Amino acid sequence: MEEKNKRDGFGSKLGIIAAAAGSAIGLGNIYRFPCELGNNGGAAFLLVYLIVVVFLGIPVMLSELVIGRRGQSNAVGAFKKLAPKSAWPIVGYIGVLCGFIIFAFYSTISGWTLEYIVKSVSNSFQGKDLAAMEQDFSNFHDMGWRNVMWQAIFIFLTGFVVFKGVQNGIERYAKILMPVLLVILVILGVRSATLPGAKDGLVFLFKPDFSKITGKVLISALGQGFFSLSLGMGALITYGSYIKKDDNLTSTAFSVVLSDTLIALLAGIVIFPAAFSFGINPQAGMGLVFNTIPMIFNQMMGGYWFCIIFFVLLAIAALTSTISLLEVVVAYLSEELHIKRQWATVLACVATMLIGSFASLSLKSNTSLAFGGRTVFDWMDFISSNILLPLGGLLIVLFVGWRLGKSHFFDEVTNSGKLKSPLKRIILFIIRYLAPLAIIVIFISGLIK
Ligand code: TRP
Repeated sequence: MEEKNKRDGFGSKLGIIAAAAGSAIGLGNIYRFPCELGNNGGAAFLLVYLIVVVFLGIPVMLSELVIGRRGQSNAVGAFKKLAPKSAWPIVGYIGVLCGFIIFAFYSTISGWTLEYIVKSVSNSFQGKDLAAMEQDFSNFHDMGWRNVMWQAIFIFLTGFVVFKGVQNGIERYAKILMPVLLVILVILGVRSATLPGAKDGLVFLFKPDFSKITGKVLISALGQGFFSLSLGMGALITYGSYIKKDDNLTSTAFSVVLSDTLIALLAGIVIFPAAFSFGINPQAGMGLVFNTIPMIFNQMMGGYWFCIIFFVLLAIAALTSTISLLEVVVAYLSEELHIKRQWATVLACVATMLIGSFASLSLKSNTSLAFGGRTVFDWMDFISSNILLPLGGLLIVLFVGWRLGKSHFFDEVTNSGKLKSPLKRIILFIIRYLAPLAIIVIFISGLIK
């Protein structure tokens, strides 16, 4: 127990949920989810996604929290403590690497949110039609160093919060603002769904065409599920280690999954009706979200102000996510390699900046930073989300199901018998059999064209 007092921790129940939900809710919901859905057949993707989130998301999240709180350590250290002298810490190393890669390209798009705050303050969307919006968007990409500058600022902001440690850093920022984002999304959703021609967007989003479910759709939904819930790389192992012994892990996992999925769904309801109404191709990828949203605000009373608030909140949502990515790396560097927390933060941020700038610069239209049909940015996204996260998730459920053992799992989930946890047996069954099998099957179906 002496150990526990030494480590930083989350203060209140709301603090944990806010921090874990803050990690989960981010650009993955508002930016990546609509892109993936648009590229993978619409409602068919949504259906698979929802199944993934419920049947894999909850058990994997609970597994991570259990490992973290049981191990009282960072992603690597937790495995070292729970399975000494074994190969299991490799799972943690993969996680740290993966967190680093995700932070590198995620900070590119996080940087855009800052550019878009400036654009909205200077009223530069006003009265623009789609062609003009698209032109602006690609002009911005061609200013490679401007992207890098925003990215650097964003990485600096993340570093600043992580620098100050868990208790006063993460918790305080996460608590208040996400509900405000939810309210704005609801308002936007109502406006979007009542635009002329919006119905086609709702059909695209909600009426599944089952013939569209292919191996690629399955693996994209799996990757998106893990990405959106921050699973598979130890972010929630690290956060789990900060959770107090008397907090309820199962209900935390349920709350986080529910709120994250709600925000993603809302983002879909905001984007697709409007995109169809304005004639934006659902497969437009990066432009889909960044062009559609300002155009909805153009159609709204008070749109100028809403637009500013929206992009500020989006930046904050991204920040609470990048904090969790950086935290994984910093907790590892400081606890395992005994680098002082402050130096570990500086080191990780500088390294991310170096690698991340390649991701940003690879988005220029005449870039040479592309190979095999993908830009560096896309490669980082693809390798981390569609390969490393599911692989990490697979190893994590195998660890909890087969190595950690039933009694340890039940002990964590019930807080040593103090909680009832009626679902614990079903969840353990999923962790042992269903989840590993499903992840493997989806993986293989994604490999076969
Ligand atoms: N879940 C975040 C989002 O949706 C991104 C994120 C933060 C993440 N931490 C992570 C993704 C850890 C994978 C793993 O925006």
